[in-house]
Amino acid sequence: MTALLTVDNLKVSFPTRTGLVEAVRGVSFKLGKERLGIVGESGSGKSQTGRAIMGLTPSQALISADRLAFGDTDLLKISARERRHLRGKQIAMILQDPKYSLNPVMSIGRQIVETLRTHEAISKREARLRALDMLAAVQINEPQRVFDLFPHEVSGGMGQRAMIAMMLVCGPELLIADEPTSALDVTVQLEVLDILDKLVSERGMGLIFISHDLRLVSSFCDRVIVMYAGRVVEELAASDLSNAKHPYTQGLLNCLPKIAGDRHPLPILERQAEWSL
Ligand SMILES: Nc1ncnc2c1ncn2[C@@H]1O[C@H](COP(=O)(O)OP(=O)(O)OP(=O)(O)O)[C@@H](O)[C@H]1O
Ligand SMILES: [Mg+2]
Repeated sequence: MTALLTVDNLKVSFPTRTGLVEAVRGVSFKLGKERLGIVGESGSGKSQTGRAIMGLTPSQALISADRLAFGDTDLLKISARERRHLRGKQIAMILQDPKYSLNPVMSIGRQIVETLRTHEAISKREARLRALDMLAAVQINEPQRVFDLFPHEVSGGMGQRAMIAMMLVCGPELLIADEPTSALDVTVQLEVLDILDKLVSERGMGLIFISHDLRLVSSFCDRVIVMYAGRVVEELAASDLSNAKHPYTQGLLNCLPKIAGDRHPLPILERQAEWSL
């Protein structure tokens, strides 16, 4: 059986005035209809990995892979037009900051309707109904009212949910969620994750969940990839986190606060130069 997504030796680098910045340095993994978490500290290349799959790598970047495929489709070979067709319809990505993903001068409802009508030949009326249904599915209480609001008129949590609605309305097979809840406070964060969890299992999607929060990822995903300096340093089942072998993962686990038990002195993550080789 072909995997939903195959990433083999993916590399992304940026030519800069001071030399080449290697953001992703040979990442490989396969994904089925499952929930995969990618964790790693800031700058470890998580977002660039997601963006490469989505086809949103900045134009100045150099990208290569032995294979980057969605099902049988070679993502590095298809045209920009085919890419656009795939994006939104079959692969969707919730970007790290919803503020930049929603169009500020278009009402939330219209944005969802436009997404639908770009990919499906349906009437305005039907698109409106589907958009309202989707807003209700992400637990927006008054979909009719929110439909006509502009992004600046809703709260951060609502904006994030509207984004999720927009990304899921076409029923993608793969969803990449890049820190979908980092900008939210903890209670709203859990609500949004709950919604995401429900939608992913109800609709049988593959999910890549990117976060720097190891605990969150392991509670939410089936499998976790740990990235450090553009590489995968460890891959484990989420339930098996306590058996992590790589010292970086162990370090991250040690840094998690424990409610019971003495935490003095606080552990420090001692980075070894050889981790980034
Ligand atoms: N346009 C760019 N030009 C040059 N370097 C870039 C560019 N975009 C990203 N990078 C570099 O690529 C590396 C990986 O970035 P990436 O955004 O994937 O990190 P991340 O793991 O998502 O971090 P965070 O947790 O902060 O979101 C970083 O070192 C970053 O500085
Ligand atoms: Mg990022």
